Amino acid sequence: MIKEKFNLANKVAIVTGASKGIGEAMARGLAEFGAKVVISSRKQEAVDRVASDFNSLGLTAIGIECHVAKKEQQEELVEKVMKKYGRIDILINNAGTNPYFGPIEKMPLDIYQKTMDININSAISLSNLVYPVMKNQKGGSIIHVSSVEGLHPSKMMAAYNISKTALIMLGKNQAIEWGKDNIRVNMICPGYVKTKLSAALLEHEAAYKSFLKNAALGRVSTPDEMAGLAVFLASDASSYMTGSTIVNDGGLLHSPLIDNF
Ligand SMILES: NC(=O)c1ccc[n+]([C@@H]2O[C@H](COP(=O)([O-])OP(=O)(O)OC[C@H]3O[C@@H](n4cnc5c(N)ncnc54)[C@H](OP(=O)(O)O)[C@@H]3O)[C@@H](O)[C@H]2O)c1
Repeated sequence: MIKEKFNLANKVAIVTGASKGIGEAMARGLAEFGAKVVISSRKQEAVDRVASDFNSLGLTAIGIECHVAKKEQQEELVEKVMKKYGRIDILINNAGTNPYFGPIEKMPLDIYQKTMDININSAISLSNLVYPVMKNQKGGSIIHVSSVEGLHPSKMMAAYNISKTALIMLGKNQAIEWGKDNIRVNMICPGYVKTKLSAALLEHEAAYKSFLKNAALGRVSTPDEMAGLAVFLASDASSYMTGSTIVNDGGLLHSPLIDNF
């Protein structure tokens, strides 16, 4: 049955940056389809709270602290998950940051480096830690949460945009190198989603107005609207998809080239 392909029972999923926002919604989606989810972020207290909420809904979740730019915490995360469940089937590299809004020529290099460490370098190293596990299991699904900003430039956020473009190319390279091991790697590019991360943009009146004008659906999305895609890409329903970049942006990237016609 095709419906059965969406079933994630007996699968173990790690979701980074899952204490709130898009990561939390994706983790809940996976858990509702039967996965055992590992909620991860920088703060143990925050991930414990989400895991406990999920468990009280009858879902299966544990919280494990991991700052994704800290290699030793990544290693501990994978070790703890293997100790608890003995397998990893799904990895969602979702944790991200956008600390600099300003012109390129004034961008401090240390902030640029921090952005790259969290948004792209962490995805390389965490995927590399999970790779031997998935290879040994003869399969797995890795999802990178990129952004429409990785496909199309906006002013004042070059560091973020560069990191999100790099994440897409990382996934394409992983897809062609790891396809032989039945490990699929796909990318999700959300448009604007109402979360803490997007607050600076969405609370800026002029930026918000221009966004509303350009998005075909004329609104921002909720984190929940990103979850179905994560379930699909994590599951066997997408068993032939790898190296793909899926845009989920309310039509933002189709903003008309000619207006008022
Ligand atoms: N919101 C949007 O409009 C939008 C659009 C396109 C793409 N995205 C992407 O979607 C992803 C999630 O963003 P969001 O909007 O859901 O943000 P959010 O609501 O601010 O949540 C960010 C999550 O990441 C965690 N986090 C932050 N830094 C971390 C680090 N160094 N290590 C581990 N966890 C960390 C945070 O938890 P702690 O504070 O507990 O660590 C939190 O759980 C990001 O990659 C972002 O670039 C967002």
